Amino acid sequence: DSGSGDGEEQAIVAGTAPGFPPFEIKQDGELTGFDVELLEAVVEAAPGYTFDRWSEFEFDSLIPALTGGDIDVIAAAMTITEERRQTIAFTDAYYEADQSILVRADGDFQPTELGDLAGRPIGAQTGTTGEGVIRSELIETGDLSESNYNGYGNYTLAVQDLENGNIDAIVIDKPVAETFASERDVEVAFTYETGEEYGFGIRQDAGDIQSALNEGLATVEEDGTYEELRNEWFSS
Ligand code: ARG
Repeated sequence: DSGSGDGEEQAIVAGTAPGFPPFEIKQDGELTGFDVELLEAVVEAAPGYTFDRWSEFEFDSLIPALTGGDIDVIAAAMTITEERRQTIAFTDAYYEADQSILVRADGDFQPTELGDLAGRPIGAQTGTTGEGVIRSELIETGDLSESNYNGYGNYTLAVQDLENGNIDAIVIDKPVAETFASERDVEVAFTYETGEEYGFGIRQDAGDIQSALNEGLATVEEDGTYEELRNEWFSS
């Protein structure tokens, strides 16, 4: 089906990287989560656009998929960074987050600052800002050797390795850390403030999508949809 009567609407293919609760998750084979429901609502509220379908990738494949034209939008709790802005553009921000340090819930290792992770096997999802913190604050400072850093295709695998004792800590977005802590045998040791903002990623030459999505975002913020979804997916 194409369009809704008022002319041609452009169908949007969105890319995400599931395994990042509660933003994007697979539940009984179904893709859902805060980002998933929000992006669909934003696209439907964006003048001239309609939602088509989701395509799933590992996080570090999303930007190449976007620039290569396989998808039109990234909705993956992606932080707006200067580095990413060299390659893609973003909509207005829709969520704020810091990084948290996750450890096993057994209480054996209780770091209180990044320096406490020195010399420990630790992990993050490849290509994330959590990995960026490990590189800039621990590896580049000489506190951690590259061999102590474990990069994972997704954070679910990293949490498994943490539970199994293969690594001692994970650096991960705070809301996701809190979700894993409520579901798995892990806990938040401390939070490292980064003041990140998530935006939906679009191609740099897609100025029309950008303004339409920003308009859609403003609409769902004004009509209560945004708040409803936040209440549905976050306890606080
Ligand atoms: N906010 C972090 C970043 O932009 C992590 C995002 C990970 N997202 C995901 N769907 N796995 O790097």
